[in-house]
Amino acid sequence: MSQNTIKVWDPLVRIFHWSLVVFFTIAFLTGEEAESLHVYAGYVVIGLVIFRILWGFIGPEHARFKDFVFGPDKVIQYLKSLASGSPQRYVGHNPAGGYMVVLMLATLLVVTFTGLKAYAAEGHGPLAANAEISVIPIAKAVEGDRKGNGAVERGKNKGEKYWEEIHEAASNFMLGLIVLHILGVIVYSKLHKENLVKAMITGEKDSE
Ligand code: HEM
Ligand code: HEM
Repeated sequence: MSQNTIKVWDPLVRIFHWSLVVFFTIAFLTGEEAESLHVYAGYVVIGLVIFRILWGFIGPEHARFKDFVFGPDKVIQYLKSLASGSPQRYVGHNPAGGYMVVLMLATLLVVTFTGLKAYAAEGHGPLAANAEISVIPIAKAVEGDRKGNGAVERGKNKGEKYWEEIHEAASNFMLGLIVLHILGVIVYSKLHKENLVKAMITGEKDSE
């Protein structure tokens, strides 16, 4: 670290971020099948998100929620400064970015929880014991499979369809957030003439 740079993102935040990118992408691309790869990638995402929430309370300064979750007044001030063309500089996440981080983590919780419920409705996974599975839907499911006529939409029981639909909608909503997230990173990097992606790799930013 040279004299003009400061450490902003600790190694665990950086490992968290890039692992999330990898495992979210795998889970998203394997959703149609929900074979073991999908489920294992999803489990890794659950672990990463739980870790990040804990790290938001016990991690170093810029990893903590209290470093980047501000009141609405600060968000408005920040957005005004952005509109005026001379945005205020924050070393960690800016006030608008901070809410985006919280929204992304919360959405990932919804995506993975509904994934677990959909999986449980198929009789698998850690929540399977609580799932309302009765013999009849399973029998119908098998019959639907055998006929291959989509009688119960390729043999899916009601619970499975219900959770799957929310799971899919939440995944697509998350994809929308990611697009905004990446646009936000590009716009901020241009306005501040500061490479945020590099900072998320090296952990360092210029001190000025
Ligand atoms: C970031 C994590 C995840 C993402 C982005 C994701 C995304 C998706 C997507 C896009 C689908 C396709 C929905 C459709 O077209 O019907 C899907 C289906 C599914 N996912 Fe996930 N998922 C994630 C995590 C999980 C987890 C943790 C589980 C459970 C262990 C899970 C279980 C399922 C199941 C059972 C289906 C239904 C597949 C089928 O039979 O058609 N997912 N997921
Ligand atoms: C290749 C695409 C991506 C790039 C270039 C990127 C870049 C970044 C950068 C530069 C930051 C730091 C922002 C700042 O300085 O305030 C960040 C933070 C974050 N990104 Fe991404 N990102 C990408 C994809 C994703 C995806 C796919 C997800 C979610 C699945 C995600 C979730 C997050 C989260 C949760 C944070 C907050 C980090 C923390 O405080 O722990 N990003 N991203």
